[in-house]
Amino acid sequence: VDQYAVVGNPIHHSKSPKIHGEFAVLTGEKLEYSAIQAPIDDFSGTVHSFFGNGGKGLNVTVPFKEQAWSLSNELSDRARLAGAVNTLYSNEKGEICGENTDGVGLVRDLTINHKITLADKRILILGAGGAVRGVLLPILEQNPHSITIANRTVAKAEQLVELFTGRGELIACGFSDLDEPFDIIINGTSASLQGDLPPLSDGLVNDNTVTYDMMYAPDKTVFNRWAESLGAAQTFDGLGMLVEQAAESFYIWRKVRVDTQPVLAMLRAFD
Ligand code: ATR
Repeated sequence: VDQYAVVGNPIHHSKSPKIHGEFAVLTGEKLEYSAIQAPIDDFSGTVHSFFGNGGKGLNVTVPFKEQAWSLSNELSDRARLAGAVNTLYSNEKGEICGENTDGVGLVRDLTINHKITLADKRILILGAGGAVRGVLLPILEQNPHSITIANRTVAKAEQLVELFTGRGELIACGFSDLDEPFDIIINGTSASLQGDLPPLSDGLVNDNTVTYDMMYAPDKTVFNRWAESLGAAQTFDGLGMLVEQAAESFYIWRKVRVDTQPVLAMLRAFD
């Protein structure tokens, strides 16, 4: 049976084995998908022994996505710009290839599951770390009116704008520079992991604003509760992004598209 796995450290919390297990059942694909905790100092050894033993594909999660990018023999354009890889597979020559499906997962969740158009929208992205860099290109490919990247450390937002120069209208700033409403606000800071909210003006949200937290939690995130209290039109969390990035990896490995709806419903029910 073809072997797949997710690699991280820690890994016990990962929902990927459950998601891919369901995908296999739904599509009738014969595969096994497990979770591997790589030693912090030996991600590369873990990856090479997995593929050396005939493994077909890996998902990569915290804290190894940048290392996966570095060890990939071949990168898609998307992965190269993302600076991080969440999906590995080996090509005909046996080389390890890296892809990043996070941004496509976010875009598919917004546009297909939630029916939100990104074209011509004024988008605000909070944060300028690896998570944000990883999703910028697929968002830009939707031709938004503009993307404003606001970060606590403004220099990091400026670096991202520079990196993606020529690919769309991009603006870098700090949180205190903002007070006009946006069409879509995406929270890509890790602040919500600690239940923190960046210092944001209430003027950023009106009854037309859609918010998306790349985090997910059984309860509404602090960021989405903030947006809801200001009358946001809709607020979404990142569970759909998680399932969609998985479906995109599954497609790369198996060339089979899976219906994500039953899997999303199952995960919501278990939360
Ligand atoms: P990730 O891979 O999750 O993106 P990261 O690269 O460390 O992790 O980036 C974390 C992001 O969350 C950064 O944009 C960080 O802001 P700084 O660049 O100024 O550090 C942001 N962040 C983390 N904690 C935050 C907080 N309490 N308030 C605001 N922003 C925060």
